[in-house]
Amino acid sequence: TSQTLERMVGSYILWLALASCILTLTATEQQDPSTAEERCENTCRPEEECRFLNGTWDCFCRQDLNISDVHSLQPQLDCGAREIKVSLDKCILGSLGFGDEVIAYLHDGNCSSTVQRQERNWMSVTSPTQARACGNILERNGTHAIYKNTLSLANAFIIRDTILNINFQCAYPLDMKVSLQTVLHPIVSSLNVSMDGAGEFTVRMALFQDSNYTSPYEGATAVLGVESMLYVGAILERGDISQFNLLLRNCYATPTKDKTDPVKYFIIKNSCPNQRDSTISVEENGVSSESRFSVQMFMFAGNYDLVFLHCEIHLCDSLNEQCQPSCSRSHLRSEVVAINPAQVLDLGPITRKDAPSLGVMNGTPSIAGFLVAWPMLLLPVLLAGLF
Ligand SMILES: *[C@@H]1O[C@H](CO)[C@@H](O)[C@H](O)[C@H]1NC(C)=O
Ligand SMILES: *[C@@H]1O[C@H](CO)[C@@H](O)[C@H](O)[C@H]1NC(C)=O
Ligand SMILES: *[C@@H]1O[C@H](CO)[C@@H](O)[C@H](O)[C@H]1NC(C)=O
Ligand SMILES: *[C@@H]1O[C@H](CO)[C@@H](O)[C@H](O)[C@H]1NC(C)=O
Ligand SMILES: *[C@@H]1O[C@H](CO)[C@@H](O)[C@H](O)[C@H]1NC(C)=O
Ligand SMILES: *[C@@H]1O[C@H](CO)[C@@H](O)[C@H](O)[C@H]1NC(C)=O
Repeated sequence: TSQTLERMVGSYILWLALASCILTLTATEQQDPSTAEERCENTCRPEEECRFLNGTWDCFCRQDLNISDVHSLQPQLDCGAREIKVSLDKCILGSLGFGDEVIAYLHDGNCSSTVQRQERNWMSVTSPTQARACGNILERNGTHAIYKNTLSLANAFIIRDTILNINFQCAYPLDMKVSLQTVLHPIVSSLNVSMDGAGEFTVRMALFQDSNYTSPYEGATAVLGVESMLYVGAILERGDISQFNLLLRNCYATPTKDKTDPVKYFIIKNSCPNQRDSTISVEENGVSSESRFSVQMFMFAGNYDLVFLHCEIHLCDSLNEQCQPSCSRSHLRSEVVAINPAQVLDLGPITRKDAPSLGVMNGTPSIAGFLVAWPMLLLPVLLAGLF
């Protein structure tokens, strides 16, 4: 048995010799850095160098990188409409002494990533741009929706031994679309529309609380005061929204859920506001991918406590159609309209505050509800990215 051991040791030494030989070979193949850099398809970052390995030239972490300041680990933040991505430089991580056993995770530890799994020389963790997803904390000020989270680095093998925490945040200017992402259960309806040759579009329509159209109502029913205004916004999404404008052709209220209910109160008829109701204000219609209008809250006379809203939409080809409606005051628009139910979005029910209660939630957004304490920070790095 001692002979086998000797042979094993012998072959081990041989392997070592072979390995160092290969290493020397690759090292001698390396050109002087100035010409070597040009051989790589991608330009290498300052932390990288262009090297020949495995039959190709590629950017690898510099071997002479000597970084001891943990503050050099400036994360890269990518604030996307759907996804937030925070990335760390693997070369700097390596130079700081974090080996392959490092794991990075967000506030919710299920959103994590390890060094090995990553492409190029970045290590990144992503979370959906959504409140609570991956432990995201959403804050809103008057103008922005701000998603906050913490990236933690830890040793993956032993008990999660947190090495450092990095705070980051993404701020998105509030508009109708962003605001709909900030609430859990917005009162919204959506419709997929196929256009020949132009692909599929999605139209969403929602009920907002004020003239900024940035605070959607939430819950099953919108409850409004008698004097309140109804703010209705519709957005065209997906598809080629550069060519198509969203036009609200007919918007009307019914006392029942049925969009074909013969009792209809028109707010917009043949693309123009109902002139007899002075509380109607059409902010935008047919001129972009968004349409907005407001009207004072009303109820149907009789034994009705609820109102349902319906809008027939049209995707207007701005290159080939006159999309902006021309609504002259003299034009009496009393003609009967034919409504295509397949193009109608529905919202509701909407009820009055003093109407007999249905036992439903009222529609105030609960944004501050889930503000929780922040973990203690070893390294606070604050990043703000504008979408
Ligand atoms: C070299 O190529 C092999 C096979 O394609 C791969 O398994 C190996 O990980 C590569 N080595 C390096 C250092 O990229
Ligand atoms: C790295 O830099 C520090 C000072 O910045 C120096 O003391 C140390 O010797 C360097 N290490 C190597 C391996 O070059
Ligand atoms: C992580 O995922 C597991 C299983 O999917 C789940 O039980 C756990 O609650 C999740 N952790 C957090 C913090 O959400
Ligand atoms: C809201 O937050 C954003 C991003 O932090 C900031 O730029 C903006 O000035 C804030 N607005 C108000 C009204 O505080
Ligand atoms: C519209 O299409 C999207 C993507 O295909 C799908 O996820 C969604 O459920 C569809 N919505 C409706 C109302 O059909
Ligand atoms: C609308 O937004 C502006 C800031 O852009 C703010 O000053 C104003 O109070 C908001 N109005 C309402 C009704 O919330």
